[in-house]
Amino acid sequence: MSPADSPRADSAAATGSDSAPKLSRRGLFGLAGVGVGAGLIGAAAGVAGDRAVMAATSHASESTVYEFYGAHQAGIITPAQDRLHFASFDVGDITRDELISLLADWTIAAARMTTGGSAGTFGPANGPYDAPPDDTGEALDLPASALTITFGFGPTLFSTAGGVDRFGIASKRPAALVDLPHFQADALVDAQTGGDLCIQACSDDPQVAVHAIRNLSRIAFGRASIRWSQLGFGRTSSTSRSQVTPRNLFGFKDGTANVKSEDASVVAEHIWAAGADGASWMDGGSYLVARRIRMTIETWDRTSLRDQENIVGRTKGEGGPLSGGTEFSEPDFATAGNDDKPLIPIDSHVALAHPDQNDGAVLLRRGYNFVDGNDDLGRLNAGLFFIAFQRDPRTQFIPIQKRLAANDTMNEYLRHVGSGIFAVPAGATKGSYIGAELFA
Ligand code: HEM
Repeated sequence: MSPADSPRADSAAATGSDSAPKLSRRGLFGLAGVGVGAGLIGAAAGVAGDRAVMAATSHASESTVYEFYGAHQAGIITPAQDRLHFASFDVGDITRDELISLLADWTIAAARMTTGGSAGTFGPANGPYDAPPDDTGEALDLPASALTITFGFGPTLFSTAGGVDRFGIASKRPAALVDLPHFQADALVDAQTGGDLCIQACSDDPQVAVHAIRNLSRIAFGRASIRWSQLGFGRTSSTSRSQVTPRNLFGFKDGTANVKSEDASVVAEHIWAAGADGASWMDGGSYLVARRIRMTIETWDRTSLRDQENIVGRTKGEGGPLSGGTEFSEPDFATAGNDDKPLIPIDSHVALAHPDQNDGAVLLRRGYNFVDGNDDLGRLNAGLFFIAFQRDPRTQFIPIQKRLAANDTMNEYLRHVGSGIFAVPAGATKGSYIGAELFA
């Protein structure tokens, strides 16, 4: 059956071709990949696949849209959305040109989806009747929902563990994209660690975030496959002063002292990489460190409120520092209590992570809570999927985590089981693709 004969043809005609998007490279690739001839592509090309346009949902007007193209990738200083789907990919046995075409296809699809469109040109219900739809469909009636899609390149994209330069980019690996060292008490699981590429999809609707990862993974078929992935259901950070500080699964406010997008000079100095840092193609990019941190919340829940607050260094209700004041009061690490010990214990999480103890190092934290079922002992497999952006992990995440891993009293309730580090290039310009400077 040709598209013209299909039951979808009427609605296609009604949609009209004026608003029809041009055939993307992805559309051509996808159709060629399933053996559909060029004639069929032409016959069905007048169908718009934009789910936001087709949806006419009552809440569409409430939808926030973040532009995909720009100087920096969205999803870093963007106000942290409520939901996450993060995926790390292994790249298959493909050529440099095929890797570039994957990134180009991903760019086009991501730009479409973040504005509420379908992943492909036709959409889930209007393409050639005898070909698989170029969008899976579960987000058809949903607005953009503040979707951001952020791409990163892992160390093994530049050279494999065995030192093979698969794509001719080994010499362009930024010095800041180090292999993370082993931290004290790390219990990393290989199947939840590393990866050649990563995609962070954040949205205020979980189905929109999952739809993004699912469709980008589908587009990558035969070129890259998911190595591990993580769903997050509640942000554990604020990245804008306009946001209320959320709570993590220990029940504490998380994100109070985070870098906020409004702190323009801090963001410029500590979050965005510069060409002068060494890798010119990373100008305007950032480095993402992800840690899957299991939290033994059942043990935590049997810990006294006093101990919980001393472990964090802040009050549980207000989130203020134990030295006094309200949530955003500056912590005072010097003042001692009646027992001559600092009011904020020196081995508390906040005391150890604070920039004062780390040569001024800061992180833009953008993590999420997770609960992935339960373990054999009937405990929730819960934790925090920690994500942090920074200009240079060598002077930011690594020294902070070294200090925390060695001394943090919170460690009794934590286990780092997954890890990843990725170079997140600057935003793409229209007509180009994500990371183009790396391959220039
Ligand atoms: C499950 C693990 C973790 C939990 C439950 C946790 C929880 C918290 C809480 C409740 C705060 C205080 C509120 C705030 O300012 O945001 C905080 C602050 C902070 N955390 Fe964590 N955190 C975890 C892991 C990490 C890791 C792995 C790092 C970095 C290596 C880190 C770095 C920081 C920093 C830099 C601050 C701000 C300190 C300050 O300037 O006062 N955290 N965290």
